[in-house]
Amino acid sequence: MAKEIKTIGVLTSGGDAPGMNAAIRAVVRAGIASGLSVKGIRRGYAGLMEEDIFDMGTMSVTDIVQRGGTILFTSRCKRMMTPEGQKQAADICRNHGIDGVVVIGGDGSFRGAQKLSENGINTIAIPGTIDLDIACTEYTIGFDTACNTAMEAIDKVRDTSASHERCSIIEVMGRTAGHIALWCGISNGSEYVLIPERHKESDEQAIIEKIQSKRRIGKKHHIVVNAEGVGNSYEMAERIEAATGIETRATVIGHIQRGGNPTCRDRVYASAMGALAVDLLLEGKTNRVVAYTDGEFCDYDIDEALAMTKDIDQHLYSMTKRLSR
Ligand code: ADP
Ligand code: F6P
Repeated sequence: MAKEIKTIGVLTSGGDAPGMNAAIRAVVRAGIASGLSVKGIRRGYAGLMEEDIFDMGTMSVTDIVQRGGTILFTSRCKRMMTPEGQKQAADICRNHGIDGVVVIGGDGSFRGAQKLSENGINTIAIPGTIDLDIACTEYTIGFDTACNTAMEAIDKVRDTSASHERCSIIEVMGRTAGHIALWCGISNGSEYVLIPERHKESDEQAIIEKIQSKRRIGKKHHIVVNAEGVGNSYEMAERIEAATGIETRATVIGHIQRGGNPTCRDRVYASAMGALAVDLLLEGKTNRVVAYTDGEFCDYDIDEALAMTKDIDQHLYSMTKRLSR
């Protein structure tokens, strides 16, 4: 028989993402609306270990749906990676009367959720990362906002790049995932997109040749979007300037992409995911991750979700090449 859930906890873990607050609000409000008590756990698994746990009510989440960051704070916690730490975390939940936990974070955080579940605490994960690099879902909280922030920043760089007839290498976030770079490459009309999933040694020479051929047909400025994981943008700019004779500048957009007010899409989808996580706990489910696939919100077993792999959207990637000829 499914365990009856009376009290749930909610935490955010790993890198923050705009829209996490909307998800927290939804967990709290949906939980209360269903007659549950809700406890906030500050600073992810680190705060759980330190029992930084407090009661949340309707007013705890007022005025946050529009705010970036996470009111629960976030962290990375090495102790949660050990069997002792995982057992301690579950025992602390039990001591605080917490029957189920909603974990909002990336795939590292899902592994912590999996361990909590193995240790007897019903756990549901929600994908919160600007990187979109969770295989089981087409949507992760924060990706839409991060792309819009980066896109607006690149538009601004383009203005000055055009005035000075320069080449601009613009670095967006994504150490191992090129989704933000790809979307910006298209939405900003860049001449070249560099992503870790498709990076080749010959890319830089191809950029140089493309810039030179574009100059010959009258193009006066150039935009290259580089995902963080591909290589140092400043050094790349120096090499491209030396090879082409065209003034080249690098801009690293950085953590600006992780902050700011979430877009409408991030607020709505994060809210839907938060409410669904509560429903799954109420159904007695555990070790599940909320996802968005084929136009619907759904859920997967965390073990299965972690075993899935995700590639870059090849159709979009090929299109960037076609449209920037
Ligand atoms: P993200 O959730 O954004 O991928 P991390 O990979 O840094 O971020 O993971 C966040 C936290 O999740 C880690 O600091 C750790 O506490 C927990 N975690 C990560 N991997 C594991 C694991 N294999 N087992 C248990 N907990 C883990
Ligand atoms: O996972 C989100 C992300 O912003 C990546 O795009 C980036 O590589 C990484 O986190 C940066 O992490 P930190 O804030 O710890 O430097």
